[in-house]
Amino acid sequence: MLSVLNLNFKITKERGDALLFSVKKSEDNLIYRNESSIEYFTSKKDYLIIGVEVAKYIKKENKSLSDICIDCSMEKEDFLKFYEGILIGSWEYDNHKTDKSGKNISVNLLINQNMGNDIESKAKEISNLIEASFLTRKLVEMPGNLLTPSKLAEYAKNIDGLKVEVEKINHGGIWEVGKGSSEDPLLLTCEWNGDSSEDPIILVGKGVTFDSGGLSLKPPRSMEDMKCDMGGAATVLGIMQAAVKNKIKKRIIGIMPCVENMPSGNALKPGDVITSMSGKTIEVLNTDAEGRLILADALHIAQNKYNAKEIIDFATLTGAVTVALGELYAGLFSNNNELANKITESGEMVCEPVCRLPLHEKYDELMNSDIADMCNIQKPGGGAGSITAAQFLQRFVNSDVAWAHLDIAGVARTSFNSAININKSTGFGVRLIYNYLTNN
Ligand code: BES
Ligand code: ZN
Ligand code: ZN
Repeated sequence: MLSVLNLNFKITKERGDALLFSVKKSEDNLIYRNESSIEYFTSKKDYLIIGVEVAKYIKKENKSLSDICIDCSMEKEDFLKFYEGILIGSWEYDNHKTDKSGKNISVNLLINQNMGNDIESKAKEISNLIEASFLTRKLVEMPGNLLTPSKLAEYAKNIDGLKVEVEKINHGGIWEVGKGSSEDPLLLTCEWNGDSSEDPIILVGKGVTFDSGGLSLKPPRSMEDMKCDMGGAATVLGIMQAAVKNKIKKRIIGIMPCVENMPSGNALKPGDVITSMSGKTIEVLNTDAEGRLILADALHIAQNKYNAKEIIDFATLTGAVTVALGELYAGLFSNNNELANKITESGEMVCEPVCRLPLHEKYDELMNSDIADMCNIQKPGGGAGSITAAQFLQRFVNSDVAWAHLDIAGVARTSFNSAININKSTGFGVRLIYNYLTNN
């Protein structure tokens, strides 16, 4: 046996005796105790989920201890999943309470010598990935007063090895949505060049650091959670950090329009007709359908400045996707079956499932306007709010570009704990796209 890996948990409660976890493979129960250790049963066979459960258990147990030892006599692949799960489950948001008492608990994983020489580098890749998803989760959890567009850009600049550009924007949909706020609307672009011989993969993320709805003001209960509306940009930053830290062999460009959507005397008004960066005109009937206005510009930039052949966008775009899919599956829309299938498969592999929803010209027609090229909301009575939002975006995508849109409004920050998410923000999309990028 060899102890190689150390994890740290911050535990906020007092604790008693040391715990010893024994993790062994058997028919159903994978984790059990011997005489001297704490019993822990699970019937789940997926080591990722077991890892999360073990982390949950360690955090919940009210025992004071400094060291935990976990016997990981298992297959290498199982161990790596278990390790990933334990890391995922260890996440906590460093909250804003003034009482910062608590303690760190060190967890030692005992593994077999025969797991091979690359076990530490494999584990390092995983911990870099999960740490990157923690960045996403932290940003989604941060309140709107502390995470403004310029602060979000600071977080990007703090990622070592990432080329970052921040530009103040004074035209197009990004400007129109952001102009009602005292915070400048920004375009945040970052680049990782792991293979310069390839066409870049462009990742676009909605970065609305707070969505009040603008003059089409949201009711209070719907506004409460709108600090999460930069979840798409946070996902892109998490993927970029993972790519840089693990030096993945891809060229990736992240494009994040960052704004605050606020009502004011200078704000965009319902009925206004605006011109997007592409030149297409939009009749804005509802200022709360703001995400699509800023994403339209980002998609235009992706294709015109960076000559994109493949674009994946992430956005907390519609409440309607939660009506359709709840908080488990993200909505996937795509003009390309191969890309859609690969994303779906990657999602299944990492427990971040996506469900493909249709695009159709009949839905597209609902977005027509009598006075401009299109409306930003559909004609009354059509239903299918997530699809029509995707149709709007597709109007800014050239048909020869492989494009996928992930509506993560239901999954970026959830109200219940799923198998692998034990806190509100989930980091959904980071592990999924990392898996997609490294397997294709
Ligand atoms: N940011 C919201 C969508 C959202 C809802 C994100 C719930 C996360 C959780 C988006 O900007 C929005 O307000 N969409 C409107 C669109 C409508 C006005 C056509 C919606 O979903 O109600
Ligand atoms: Zn909105
Ligand atoms: Zn929004």
